[in-house]
Amino acid sequence: MCGIVGYTGKQSAITPLIEGLRRLEYRGYDSAGIALGTPNKLFIEKRAGKLANLEAELGVKIPTAQSGIGHTRWATHGGPTDRNAHPHVDNEGKLAVIHNGIIENYTQLRTELESRGHKFESETDTESVAHLLSDLRKSHKGDLSAAMREAAKYLRGSFTLLAIHSDAPTIIVGVRRNSPLVVGLGDGENFMASDVAAFIDYTKRAVELGQDHVVTMTPSAISITDLEGNAVVPKEYEITWDASAAQKGGFSHFMLKEIFEQPKAVADTLVGRLDENNHIVLDELHLSKQEIQNLKKIVVLACGTAYHAGMLAKYAIEKWAKITVEVELASEFRYRDPLIDSQTLVIAISQSGETMDTLMALRHAKSAGARILAVCNTNSSTIPRESDAVLYTHAGPEIAVASTKAFLTQVIAVYLIGLHLAQERVVLTGVQVKEIFNELLELPSKIEQILETVEPLRELTRGFAQSTSVLFLGRNVGFPVALEGALKLKELAYMHAEGFAGGELKHGPIALIEEGTPVIAILPASHEHGLDEKMLSNIQEVKARGALVIVIAQESAVVTGATHIIRIPDAPSLLQPVLATVPLQVFAYEMAVARGNDVDQPRNLAKSVTVE
Ligand code: F6R
Repeated sequence: MCGIVGYTGKQSAITPLIEGLRRLEYRGYDSAGIALGTPNKLFIEKRAGKLANLEAELGVKIPTAQSGIGHTRWATHGGPTDRNAHPHVDNEGKLAVIHNGIIENYTQLRTELESRGHKFESETDTESVAHLLSDLRKSHKGDLSAAMREAAKYLRGSFTLLAIHSDAPTIIVGVRRNSPLVVGLGDGENFMASDVAAFIDYTKRAVELGQDHVVTMTPSAISITDLEGNAVVPKEYEITWDASAAQKGGFSHFMLKEIFEQPKAVADTLVGRLDENNHIVLDELHLSKQEIQNLKKIVVLACGTAYHAGMLAKYAIEKWAKITVEVELASEFRYRDPLIDSQTLVIAISQSGETMDTLMALRHAKSAGARILAVCNTNSSTIPRESDAVLYTHAGPEIAVASTKAFLTQVIAVYLIGLHLAQERVVLTGVQVKEIFNELLELPSKIEQILETVEPLRELTRGFAQSTSVLFLGRNVGFPVALEGALKLKELAYMHAEGFAGGELKHGPIALIEEGTPVIAILPASHEHGLDEKMLSNIQEVKARGALVIVIAQESAVVTGATHIIRIPDAPSLLQPVLATVPLQVFAYEMAVARGNDVDQPRNLAKSVTVE
């Protein structure tokens, strides 16, 4: 939530700032603003709405400055207006601050500052920090870094803050607590941002910052301290993402590009995971055979789409490794008294690695003694840093707000964990594991096959653009797929959409069906327990009540009762979700386009949800 970028160096600051904000707009797009480090008084411009509004306002009136800070906002405190847009300034207009997160004690702070004569312009929690820093800087003889350390001690909540002062405009000071901030090291120029994507065009050298670290950045150097002013040695790492991965590459939207990147993302996540002795290679789990055998249960924590990947983990791990798996919405987990101990393995799934709900749930589990394994797509983000071990998915940067390739790779990653546990618990033999692994290896080309034949589905989707509601039905592993299909449609097409377990239909939801209601049914791959036949009966039940039924079915499946059939390649039951999800992503994408919605930046949402 909210994207932050800072620059100081040799070039005109406006270019890296605007480019950086463009790359960070996925984090929020309620408003955008910049402060440029012009001497005497800062140059500030900010506008409600997307970055384009700010750019239009800036036009050609940009002063020369070689440093500055920029912000793109996802509103929490105060509506998305010009006045509430960041940066926020002190009363002299000399100090500017941008912020990601929430200052929990801002009301008290504001009252204190107002009683000392500070005048407020906005309704935000952030503005208090600008006034506080202004006072503290004066009491620290103009030392903005010392003021930032002092301020951070006083502030409660989660925050990344960047500040600049016109008396020393080439210095940018930042701090982070429970919110992301990375430094980019250039040649005669340096960067700070919420995400490396902001400066990847300029440098591949990055420094990660720990909790409560304050960084002071000039064109030639950075220095990091803790809140007591003790020096911290910078931990540098190389960014492996390619700049082109963060661009649209000829696709009309990032989401479409990311859907088409799925074969590669899945293949990359599988690379090198089976050795010549048919052993799953997951050294990064750091769990001995004994520890795995002693595990009492697994708890999966995640939100949204990642939660659906977690639901699939339950089916696979319980089947393969014969160990109990509970799947919890991270936002609910710590508000009851979950039964976890040192024999519990917690798997925290998160694309961004910054989701606050997941982070807080993870911390709760850690304090109860559980071992934490993160499944994450973003290197060096907070969730992997705070976990005992991490398995990275290799989806590459996911820019579109709606998660696609990250989801498929999360499913692959948790399946690999399931196979590894099964092997270490001696439930599956090497030969059985190899067989399943080979099926996984076939998925990329099967996804490609779906994408090559997706045009009729796109056309079909456009025919439903005026529908008011779409229902999704699944059974067994098709149930999380139905939930995922409905979530994608809600967030992109702004339509009523719900996913149901096929068997639940008759317990209430069937009342929603009326003449012409589109229903998308995922036909199970498995004949086990007559699952496919039961879904065919569900299809007949909704059809009899007027529904138009689109059935997602494997090539070899016999389908009856469908209004339309979307074929996907055959795959074993547990692997079918990786294929069946793809047409649902395309359906939601196409529906959003047909309804004129902003596909990559749907309303009210943000990519990285760093508030609870
Ligand atoms: C939906 C979507 C969200 C995220 C959720 C968790 O398309 O993207 O539901 O899955 O906010 O985000 P991460 O995986 O970053 O923790």
